[in-house]
Amino acid sequence: MTYHLLSIHQFEIKEIFEIFNSIPIIKKHISVPISRLACSNKIIVNAFFEPSTRTSLSFASAMYRLGGNVITFNKEYSSINKGETFPDTIRTISSFGDILILRHPERGIMMKAIENSQIPIINAGDGDGEHPSQAILDLYTIYHKFGYEFQTKTILFVGDIKNSRTIHSLLELLHMFPSMKIYFLPFHNKFPTNIMINKVKQVHNQSDNLIFTFSNVKFDLFDIVYCTRNQTERESSWVMTDSIKHEKPDFIINNYFVNKLNDDCILLHPLPRNQELNDDVDSNHRSYFFKQMELGVEVRMAILEFVMNKNNKSLLDL
Ligand code: CP
Repeated sequence: MTYHLLSIHQFEIKEIFEIFNSIPIIKKHISVPISRLACSNKIIVNAFFEPSTRTSLSFASAMYRLGGNVITFNKEYSSINKGETFPDTIRTISSFGDILILRHPERGIMMKAIENSQIPIINAGDGDGEHPSQAILDLYTIYHKFGYEFQTKTILFVGDIKNSRTIHSLLELLHMFPSMKIYFLPFHNKFPTNIMINKVKQVHNQSDNLIFTFSNVKFDLFDIVYCTRNQTERESSWVMTDSIKHEKPDFIINNYFVNKLNDDCILLHPLPRNQELNDDVDSNHRSYFFKQMELGVEVRMAILEFVMNKNNKSLLDL
């Protein structure tokens, strides 16, 4: 049976560490001549039905660095504009490569995609559902900073908790590490659901109030602050206009805020950012979001190899 990477729920802890531990080995392959890599004849199909910079290009870069190739589906210039259905599109593009990297605005559409795909699919974001490769990258970034001690750290999620698929996936991943503590600083009307709150309380044995407001944040409590932008595109009537682009968030994370955090605390953001994360924090030593973005290539090299291995193939000639 084909192994698709659709959700964080599929993982066991040992597989997460398998991916982390494979990264230094896989990184060595960046300098290996392409002819020695098994994936020199392999192709990923990048199909993004929703905009992306980091996920699409880091998967492409990862594949090229492994010696493979990338083809890109472009929705605007595709036969969707001639009435082709989603199942026919998936059937077609999945016959042209070895792994399909798929992003789509509809939550849950991956199940329809796998019914029609000839090859493994990696979920690169489905609406407000999941973004599993980002969650693995986020946790790897935390591990990169704190080592195995990350399992005792405390994280504050900031922003659009309701709609952020990166938070949804990362939360599920953190539930595998019950000694971690989790808190929220949500935008107005972007609160975690009761299901999310109850699961945190139960799994992480937290009985205190999990929700902070901007005026009562306990700055010294956190080791990691994970910001997200307002996911305006998830509102049903969404059209990107200049007024939305320039819409002020409920509050802004700036140096005034960040300098009150512990000296060793790290500031993460899956990016892109809007106004919620001021660029005056960029040179703050706690800012780790550009490092997080850069690690995306090596983490996705490891994820590509992990998915191929699960399908009894390998990208590397080890
Ligand atoms: N973090 C992330 O998913 O970024 P992109 O939307 O640019 O892929």
